[in-house]
Amino acid sequence: MAAASRRLLVDVHTHVYLPRYVSFLRSRTSVPRVFSRTTPEGKTEERLLILDAEPSGGRPMGSQQFWDRAEKLRFMDKHGIDISIVSTANPWLDFLPAATAQVLASELNSDLEEYCSTSPNLADGTLKQLYGFGLLPLVPEASSASLLEIIQQISNLPHLKGVIIGSRGLGKGLDDDALEPVWAAIEKAALVVFLHPHYGVDQKEWGEKDNGHVLPLALGFPFETTIAITRLILSGVLDRHPDLRILLAHSGGALPQLSSRLASCIDHDPVVASRLQHDARYYLGKLYFDAVAYGSEELGFVSDTVGRAEKYVKSGASAAASAGAGGVQRKLGSRRMLFGTDHPFFPPLGEAEKWKSVVENLEAIDGVFGWDEAEQNAVRGGNAIELFGLGKIP
Ligand code: URA
Ligand code: ZN
Repeated sequence: MAAASRRLLVDVHTHVYLPRYVSFLRSRTSVPRVFSRTTPEGKTEERLLILDAEPSGGRPMGSQQFWDRAEKLRFMDKHGIDISIVSTANPWLDFLPAATAQVLASELNSDLEEYCSTSPNLADGTLKQLYGFGLLPLVPEASSASLLEIIQQISNLPHLKGVIIGSRGLGKGLDDDALEPVWAAIEKAALVVFLHPHYGVDQKEWGEKDNGHVLPLALGFPFETTIAITRLILSGVLDRHPDLRILLAHSGGALPQLSSRLASCIDHDPVVASRLQHDARYYLGKLYFDAVAYGSEELGFVSDTVGRAEKYVKSGASAAASAGAGGVQRKLGSRRMLFGTDHPFFPPLGEAEKWKSVVENLEAIDGVFGWDEAEQNAVRGGNAIELFGLGKIP
């Protein structure tokens, strides 16, 4: 893997609300929306309200980090990021009627292609490249034909390398049989699916104390991803579409931690025991995990569970032998993990040169026990070059 040895930094988890999307949110009076209010100091500020019953009147739109490409490039420059694979942030088109979602998906995909393809090089001579994940009109009532048309559009746009999706699918989750043609088309087009949360879990779980956004973001988001990908695995999508490439936000949430428990529950359940072609742990080795976990130990653990996956191929003695033990597993797992920042979310609260959230994720990669420079470089950028086929782009 030649690409893995290059010391490149590629950010696979970085968002934008494109200007057309922000205008659309400004025109709305219900969530999700962007609204203006006057601060106690008499200033006008814009707030982003995207989650139902969001605390503290949403989040400040603050600077132009949310939509301005120049800000994205400055952020990349500040943190030494060479390439960003930019995705629209949640809640995408989930809340729209099918016809509106279809038109907006098409327009926003063209906007994102332009955002990426017309990106200027920075003055210091470093080549900052932008690529993107497109949007699908994944809403209830969307027809297969409309979804396939947008998949075709995305695969014709040279800078769009995948699609970002939430957990709801067509309203019934990602194990919905109606999504079968969508998985088949995405697999055939070799697009990467970035699975990202938005809804969290039932807010009643968060109690009555004001904990700001901490519980929904730290726990709700990753639990939502865990449930969504587990349902997809249980429905056999990864058996039917072995070449489908799915990147999980926030290092796959709790899936790595719960994967042996999941396997055991499957084994003991007559409804699903014989449904899957492999032990549940095998499927972790078919997935990709961003490295947005903020800690070396967590990254090491994800790497271990991903790297052992081949042991769990059913009736696959030779594969089991190749998985190896301990340190080898951890190295193997690193090949499916990719650096990300979650920009423009989690900005520093005070004045700071670099964003703590980014520095922590970079230091986490440096500190994983058993990862040598080859693994670190792969996670920083080499894996992304390979996954998104970026070596082939001039
Ligand atoms: N908050 C969000 O709403 N989305 C993200 O991606 C990160 C934080
Ligand atoms: Zn994100």
